[in-house]
Amino acid sequence: MPRIYFKTADQYVEFAEGEEVNVLRMAIREDIDVPWQCASGNCGTDRLMVEEGAENLDPPRRRERARLGELVDEGYRLACQTYTRGDATFSWDPDQVGLDDEDGAGGGARTGWAGTG
Ligand code: FES
Repeated sequence: MPRIYFKTADQYVEFAEGEEVNVLRMAIREDIDVPWQCASGNCGTDRLMVEEGAENLDPPRRRERARLGELVDEGYRLACQTYTRGDATFSWDPDQVGLDDEDGAGGGARTGWAGTG
């Protein structure tokens, strides 16, 4: 049975052979703590580093490429926009926020920013 390894949370999710599953949906279903906000490719909060299994993922579509920019080339994917047919391993920064929030343009999801971290 193929499985997604959510490395940062040290949790696995298995799915049936022959299925193609959405990575964020699987994380939410199993209560795995992947950061996310919009689930529609807009915020970039759920960007995950693909550590293994890139060959099992569907290629990034235009929206995902536009949102991630050069992060795609660094190995990142948006969980909400990514489907897998086989084993894959992902890691992430548990404190990450939306890409616009990082630029200071968005709301106050960030904690420990003002010199407390
Ligand atoms: S949750 Fe917003 S881009 Fe995936």
